[in-house]
Amino acid sequence: MTELHLWLRHEVRSTERRTPVVPSDARRLVDSGVRVTVEESPQRIFPVEEYEAAGCDVAPAGSWVSAPRDAVVLGLKELPDGPGELTHRHIFFGHAYKRQPGAADLLRRFAAGGGALYDLEYLVDDTGRRLAAFGFWAGYLGAALAVLQQRGRLAAPLTPTAKDELDATLRPAAGDKEFTALVIGALGRSGRGARVAFQTAGVEPTCWDLAETRDLDRRALLGHDVMVNAVLATSPVPPFLREQDLDDPARRLRTLCDVTCDVGSPLNVLPVYDRTTDWDDPARRLREEPPLDLIAIDNLPSLLPSESSADFSAALLPQLLEFGVGGPWGRCLDRFRLACRELGVGTGSGEGGLSR
Ligand SMILES: NC(=O)c1ccc[n+]([C@@H]2O[C@H](COP(=O)([O-])OP(=O)(O)OC[C@H]3O[C@@H](n4cnc5c(N)ncnc54)[C@H](O)[C@@H]3O)[C@@H](O)[C@H]2O)c1
Repeated sequence: MTELHLWLRHEVRSTERRTPVVPSDARRLVDSGVRVTVEESPQRIFPVEEYEAAGCDVAPAGSWVSAPRDAVVLGLKELPDGPGELTHRHIFFGHAYKRQPGAADLLRRFAAGGGALYDLEYLVDDTGRRLAAFGFWAGYLGAALAVLQQRGRLAAPLTPTAKDELDATLRPAAGDKEFTALVIGALGRSGRGARVAFQTAGVEPTCWDLAETRDLDRRALLGHDVMVNAVLATSPVPPFLREQDLDDPARRLRTLCDVTCDVGSPLNVLPVYDRTTDWDDPARRLREEPPLDLIAIDNLPSLLPSESSADFSAALLPQLLEFGVGGPWGRCLDRFRLACRELGVGTGSGEGGLSR
């Protein structure tokens, strides 16, 4: 068996401060015989020196392109637009299997180079349960931002913070008006995070999951002041909100936070907006009278980069130590091949030189 060489890449998105492997877990990989190369990255929450001290090699940002072909490139979010041919095995959130914008281009790049995508969203155990996810913190932050928006205290641009500081801003202050909140997908990771943030803010939310949306009561939904959508859609369902619902005179809803951010996907349950919001402009007004503001930020956990990275890394570490052809990684590869077949692109012969 060839020694595993993991290559932790710099994230191209300037607001992405998280990392899938924190320095203490990098040390455990190195101690277990994994070779770990870490790219320099000015925005990563952990300085590269901490990885170096943990026994990792250091390489310039973006140098994964010329990494040895058998290196497994590890990241979180999107790759840069080039090169057009991806020759390595890559582990990251590809967002490429639900016909999202840009998905076909990404898969074609893998097909052209003979590389492979191990999509972290599809790293699951044999019951289909996700093995490493940021969901809790996504929901926590989604609800936290919704609370601040509802209370008129959401200051832009958003900047990464620590949980204690965030919690202090969430606690109710004199003069804050009471409001009602709804979490959909409340039994999932994001949903749990959202519930905890609401509770920190002194709000006990209504909780809906599959059972409550099967026969969807849109009037009841619109009767809440704040709604957080935290579902993981796996098959199409009727939308939770349609354009005409936003104009319903009975609407109390003022703040809508879509943690799911499936905009552009056929599985989107909130087809009432056409683009996400971001740290510079976290809330966008969808209706004026009465107001309705949307928050739909697709990298929420990065606002708490230290806590969210540590949790994710702890969950990913045992999987990285078992990186191989079968089990969860085998399922990831099968899912990648299926997506390529569905798109009519080959997966090449090498798949990153699968030399294990
Ligand atoms: N915005 C971000 O930064 C960010 C970060 C991480 C995850 N996410 C997204 O958050 C979403 C939730 O992720 P998770 O890790 O919590 O998933 P999860 O699988 O832990 O939970 C999803 C929950 O949604 C429920 N659900 C699915 N379909 C539903 C429906 N039609 N009606 C009601 N409930 C339904 C499930 O029963 C489950 O309880 C995903 O779409 C994920 O991509 C967003």
